[in-house]
Formats: sequence, C-alpha cells, structure tokens
Amino acid sequence: MPTHRIGGSTRAVEFAPRIAELLSRYGDAPLFRLEPDTIGIADPDLMNAVLSGRPANEHERPTFKPVQGSSVTRTEASAFMQALGADVRAALQRPVDSAADVSGPWPNAGQIYLRDLLFGREHLWLRLMADRRLEIAPKLTWAAVTTGAAVLGKPKRDEPLSKLSKLATLVLDAQNYRDRRRAMFLYRRMSAPTCFTVSALVTSALWLGAPFRDDTPNRNILLEALRLLPPTWNILRMASPEFLSADERIGPGDDILLFPLLSHRNPKLWDAPEEFLPERWDELDSENHPGYLPFGPAGERCWARHLVLPLAERLLDLVRRDGLVISPDQTKAKAELGGLLKLSEVRMVRA
Ligand code: HEM
Repeated sequence: MPTHRIGGSTRAVEFAPRIAELLSRYGDAPLFRLEPDTIGIADPDLMNAVLSGRPANEHERPTFKPVQGSSVTRTEASAFMQALGADVRAALQRPVDSAADVSGPWPNAGQIYLRDLLFGREHLWLRLMADRRLEIAPKLTWAAVTTGAAVLGKPKRDEPLSKLSKLATLVLDAQNYRDRRRAMFLYRRMSAPTCFTVSALVTSALWLGAPFRDDTPNRNILLEALRLLPPTWNILRMASPEFLSADERIGPGDDILLFPLLSHRNPKLWDAPEEFLPERWDELDSENHPGYLPFGPAGERCWARHLVLPLAERLLDLVRRDGLVISPDQTKAKAELGGLLKLSEVRMVRA
C-alpha cells in the first residue's frame, strides 16, 4: 500500500490504494471524471454550486435514510436527535471517572469508553446496538434488532427509568413490536456512529499529532484532524437535473462525489496543507473557511457536530491526563477504503 507522511512526521498513514490514487492524481483538479457515470469535485466554488442545486434527499442522508424502505419523518428524526443530545450532555456532566483507562488499541479503546459512558447503564440488548461487530453485515444488525425488539418488551417497573438513556426510553416506550423494532433500528443508527466516529476522529488526531503541547486546545487539534483525515471524506449527491447548471461537464446521468479529503489539502486554500498545524485554527474560522466541510455543507451541516466535538474532547482529555503515547514501535497506520475514513489501529501506551 502507498504511504503518506504527514509533514515532517516519522509516522506515516498507509492509505488504501484507491484513496492514495485520488490524492496523487486529483489533488489539484477542480473537477474530474471518476467513472462513466460519476464526477468527482474538489473545488469549493464548484462544490457550492452543486450543493446549492438542491438539498440532500433521503437516500443520501447517512443517519436518517429510510428504515427498511420506510421514510424517517422530520419529527421522528428530531426526537432521536434531542434524546441523543440530552444523553451526551448528561454523560459529560458526570465527573470524569478517575479509574477510566483508555490505553490499548484505538479506535477500539475510545469506542468502548464512549459506549460505557453513554449507554453503559442500559439493557444488554441495547448496549449491543452500539457494538462495532454489527458493522460486519447489515443482516446481522437486522437480526439483532428484530430479536432484541422481541426480547425487550415493555420496561420492567423495577428498572429505574432515570438510569436509562433517553434514547433507550424511545425504544422502551414503543407501544408494539413493530414500533419497538423501528425505534431500535434508529437507536442503532444513533448510538453506533456516536461511539465509532468520535473515537475514529480522536484516533486520527492522536496519530497525526500526539503528544500535544500543553497549551494546544483540544478544539484546534480536532479541527486539524478533521482537515487532514476527514471521517466523511466524500459526500454523495445522486444524479439530478438541478446539478447540470453547476458545470457543463456534468451530465444528466452523473452521480457526484464531493471530496473534502481533497479540498482540505488544496494548496490554494491552505498554507502548508500537508502539515498538522492545530495552531492554524487560532486564526481561521472553521464554520466559514472555503473548502472546509468536515461536517458537510453550510445549511445542511451535521446535526450532531455540537455533540461530537465535546465527546471527542473528553477522549483527548483522558489521553492527555494519563500521558498516553503512541507505542514507539508503531510507525505506520492503515486507512482502509470504507464509507468512513479511519485508521484501523493505533496502539496507545503509558509513557
Ligand atoms: C466525527 C463524527 C461525524 C462527522 C465527521 C459527521 C459528518 C457529517 C457530514 C459530512 C454530514 C453531511 C452529509 C451530507 O450532506 O450528505 C453529516 C450529516 C448528518 N450527521 Fe453527521 N457526522 C458525524 C457524526 C454524527 C453523529 C454521531 C450523528 C448522530 C448520531 C450524526 C448525525 C447527522 C445527521 C442527522 C446529519 C444530517 C443528514 C442525515 O439525516 O443524515 N453525525 N454528518
């Protein structure tokens, strides 16, 4: 696999060949044809032109795409997001567990910490929904959901509801099996990415820059990790007549992939684009910097970004509190090809 050294670091990222090819071939191309029916775009103005064509449709939305063919309503989506927000706020208000140990292989170690922090108090079947192993096959998720929904039933009255997450009460309050199964599927859609993607982001930050200077704010570290290794490295918009006016090279049958991975490294938009420089965010505005869209386009940004960042900061706090360092014998980390750009294993040890 081709490797990619960030700045002068002794640590390298080994990108999957397809991603490495994108970086080397299209690094400075504003628009390029990837397949007979797919256009890639990395130029911020062209991205804006496409994105202003129309909002994302329900099949392009990662979290609230239809559940088994049935659309998720705005009201339903808001209820789940509000529940998750309340759970994250409640978890972060509790004092940090002095015994918490996040050494070991990441992102696994961070993901387990978050799962226990947010959902550790609930029923085993619900905790299973945040389990990484369900990623292996969608059928496995569906099997776990259908069985879990049948097993859970109504909440037992001896189980204090205050101990459960708000997300869990949405599942347990469902009036019948079908509603419970649907709520459980959405529980999975919310809980799993909260644990995986946040831990994946922090893993990238650690690999790119740890150990950090004491005066470097967590927020800057995360914004910089989101720039160089954006978990959502491409954003899909399916072929649509609204996109034709953005550029004459876009045809009526072309799907469009927007690449934050490339716009985040464009030398026209960034000084020293390959360097991991958290301090650049002292000056830059992460909400408005051209071509910077780790949480999606303005107007359609990730609904969870204000939850994701404080959770990621909690993980960084723990790593910094315990003085964890990357295992000195590790010099490469792999970024596999997948929907989420993440490093497969970074070993964190006590200094
Ligand atoms: C590091 C973590 C995350 C990153 C980098 C991220 C990034 C993004 C991006 C780029 C979009 C725009 C997608 C598009 O326009 O096609 C998006 C949308 C969205 N994200 Fe996130 N996200 C993260 C975590 C989460 C989590 C944990 C949740 C909720 C559990 C979430 C919920 C949403 C929702 C609801 C939308 C709006 C579209 C939809 O229905 O899916 N995100 N996110």
